[in-house]
Amino acid sequence: MPRLSAASPHRVRFTLNGRTVSGQAEPRMLLSDFIRHVVGATGTHVGCEHGVCGACTVQIGGVPARSCLTFAVQVEGAEIRTVEGLAPAADRLSPLQNAFRENYGLQCGFCTPGILMSLDALLRDRPDAAEPEIREFLSGHLCRCTGYTSIVKAALQAVRQRREEAGHA
Ligand code: FES
Ligand code: FES
Repeated sequence: MPRLSAASPHRVRFTLNGRTVSGQAEPRMLLSDFIRHVVGATGTHVGCEHGVCGACTVQIGGVPARSCLTFAVQVEGAEIRTVEGLAPAADRLSPLQNAFRENYGLQCGFCTPGILMSLDALLRDRPDAAEPEIREFLSGHLCRCTGYTSIVKAALQAVRQRREEAGHA
């Protein structure tokens, strides 16, 4: 990565949910702040801002990552996916989002965008993920509503649905 001057903003450009976005960022600007305040995509939430709670999780090149531990200038040219990129259409939820709705996995919804981005990546890579694996993945996310049971139920429903759809394909 080139050496950047701390004194001046730099142009950052990357793909966000399939669309090219760009803007100016000082080298220390967090990716979470860039996405929310420069791009205006506020679906990504910010809690602790030091890598503990997981609320700010996005996918960078398909891999879940804390956007509060990533500088905006580090993702130049990358493909970023946020919760806004999950639904296949404006009037349709993804199967995982729908499972959250049906199982009351949302609660207050603050931690939900980060959890969805982590689970989306897990279920893509491990479509048969079992409950222990799902719970281990969720251990990187703090839910202040503390109702992990409904979140796990939602994830398991998404796994089952995917399996049934694959069986009928
Ligand atoms: Fe990034 Fe908490 S806001 S981990
Ligand atoms: Fe409220 Fe998790 S649903 S913080």
